[in-house]
Amino acid sequence: MDVRQTHVVAVDAQAIDMQAITAAAEALLAGRLVAFPTETVYGLGANACDEMAVARIFAAKGRPATDPLIVHIAAVADLAMVAQMVPEIAYQLAARFWPGPLTLVVRRRSMIPASVSAGLDTVAVRVPAHPIALALLDAARVPIAAPSANRFARPSPTTAQHVLDDLDGRVDLILDGGPTTIGLESTILDLTADVPMILRPGGISLEALRMVLPNVRFVPRYLTPDIASSAPGSLIKHYSPDAELRLITGPVAAVHRYIRVEVDLAVTSGRHVGVLAVAEDMPALHGLQALVVSLGAEADSETIGRRLFARIRELDRHGVDLILVRGLPQSGLGLAIWDRLVRAAEGRVVEVS
Ligand code: TXA
Ligand code: MG
Repeated sequence: MDVRQTHVVAVDAQAIDMQAITAAAEALLAGRLVAFPTETVYGLGANACDEMAVARIFAAKGRPATDPLIVHIAAVADLAMVAQMVPEIAYQLAARFWPGPLTLVVRRRSMIPASVSAGLDTVAVRVPAHPIALALLDAARVPIAAPSANRFARPSPTTAQHVLDDLDGRVDLILDGGPTTIGLESTILDLTADVPMILRPGGISLEALRMVLPNVRFVPRYLTPDIASSAPGSLIKHYSPDAELRLITGPVAAVHRYIRVEVDLAVTSGRHVGVLAVAEDMPALHGLQALVVSLGAEADSETIGRRLFARIRELDRHGVDLILVRGLPQSGLGLAIWDRLVRAAEGRVVEVS
């Protein structure tokens, strides 16, 4: 990597310092990498039309060239610049959900280099709903390719510090706009298939999409290994903490019993255990020889989503060897939370009764 020093510049999303934004836009146009906040997670941005800059994203993240990037645009009016044969439904979805955490996969136009899309003839596009991201897009006047600003297979960053932890010395500039609000990545919807397919559940729920798109389909990739190998970026190993993470489902009391037994076993063999719990779990887990951190109230999936990646990173930092998590209902944002946990668990879902 040719970057040596990473600069971090704080920007107040409510009172944006345009000088900082102009400097960041100039850096992008000069082929540099700029990490910036979106409403979902921090992105590692490069000028999407600059093949060399795009190559630096893959190098900085240690990301395989087979995993395509999301292209961010300033407004729906720019969609026709990066995509062609855009179906009418894309505009209906954009009218409802942009700016916001919905990424649409459509046919790529050649002004977007093939390497952005890992050689596919499609491109994933979204308009982010974050004032700093939008100001940067406006100032740069180019589409910005940006994957989540983490090292490959690490949990996505929801603060500038997370970006620095993963990419110090590998990114030129980080715009620090504080913690992101959604905390989970965008929902990715493929509009090039016969039936619109959710490739990754995220910040826009399946239920909300169904209101506009009744025939939308979602097949969890981790249940279909043959699809998983052909679908870029849907590898089961993803969002992985250093520790082994285990997702446990079943009646609540049985899950609590399992956690108690497993913690005792692990402690006896000298392992440190972390538990990601919801507030309602706390009394039942009281006195456990484990680091128990709260994600929020069970019914408050927005708070759980916002905290999830940060809490996983926190447990990693404490050096736990094992992380236990009780599986929560998969409705609304719960589906994206479940998806990230299954991937963090590398498919290790334990069913107890
Ligand atoms: O919320 C988000 O989506 C964040 C912020 C920064 O916008 N970005 C993000 O990017 O999560 P990333 O690179 O971590 O995930 C992008 C995923 C890829 O792994 C791939 O699965 C999918 O988007 N993707 C991108 N282009 C695609 C394409 N042409 N066809 C199918 N999937 C695509
Ligand atoms: Mg990512």
